[in-house]
Amino acid sequence: MKNTCLEVLNQAVEKLRSEGVDRPRTNAELLLGAVLNVPKIELYLDRNLILTSQQIEKYSYFIQERISGRPLQYIIGSTEFYGLEFKVNESVLIPRPETETLVEEMIERLKNHPSPKIIDIGTGSGAIAISLAKNLNSAYIFATDISADALNVAKDNARMNKAEDQIEFLFGDLFEPLQNRQLEGKIDCVVSNPPYLSQEEFDHLPKDVRDYEPVVALKSGQEGISFHKRIIEGAVDFLKRDGILSLEMGLGQARQVAAFLEEFDKFKHVEIKKDLGGIERIVIAIKT
Ligand SMILES: C[S@@+](CC[C@H](N)C(=O)[O-])C[C@H]1O[C@@H](n2cnc3c(N)ncnc32)[C@H](O)[C@@H]1O
Repeated sequence: MKNTCLEVLNQAVEKLRSEGVDRPRTNAELLLGAVLNVPKIELYLDRNLILTSQQIEKYSYFIQERISGRPLQYIIGSTEFYGLEFKVNESVLIPRPETETLVEEMIERLKNHPSPKIIDIGTGSGAIAISLAKNLNSAYIFATDISADALNVAKDNARMNKAEDQIEFLFGDLFEPLQNRQLEGKIDCVVSNPPYLSQEEFDHLPKDVRDYEPVVALKSGQEGISFHKRIIEGAVDFLKRDGILSLEMGLGQARQVAAFLEEFDKFKHVEIKKDLGGIERIVIAIKT
């Protein structure tokens, strides 16, 4: 590799492009920014900066990792979600922009509530729970996950974003860690972005998702919406009357989840919301 900032960057862009990596310049900029610990703009302002051999070595390693398919966010170790920074590693799903739609909807509906109590099932990196806590100052959130490693990342993220006093992170299956807490009938909102891929959908995922993101975060049972059904059944006991249930799901699942809710007959005002890409992504319902 050549050794001024701009030379190294341009060379990496060409390498990523020749290896067929999507958005080669953005990847090259973000990876070099991470090595030098500077924002993108400084890469161009400091274009003649001579990189040390350690910096070049680290950057070459990052570029190689990216070429082999490892997601950019895992290489850098962080990502942005709802305007906040989150640490991420291979134990957590990389939070997706479409999940911001769910967060935005819940903030809008709960912003005038004096002290909403919320449950986030399958919190992963804590993206939903922490974004809600930061935007609803008097909210208290119970966040569960079946992965102890994911919960460790979520706790770090809560500390990093100064939301740890508003969130309790609990290990276990769906609502199980909330049993014996006397929370039945006291919760204002249950949110979840559960795993929703069938085995067949999982097998057809792009390599950088299938080989790197946690299987436990992606794969549902035979049926993509089996977690949604279990969460709907569990939420009934915890939600107050008029409490809100909000679930995220994959392409083509919203109508099935809405139909299950209608048939279940314990919720009213079932609504489907689209994400910014126009995909029916969230189902919201109110406990009767
Ligand atoms: C699709 S990820 C969502 C992560 C995060 N909420 C987000 O939106 O970025 C699903 C999460 O559910 C967790 N999970 C899977 N099965 C679970 C279960 N039975 N009980 C609780 N959490 C579970 C996974 O570990 C993973 O963190």
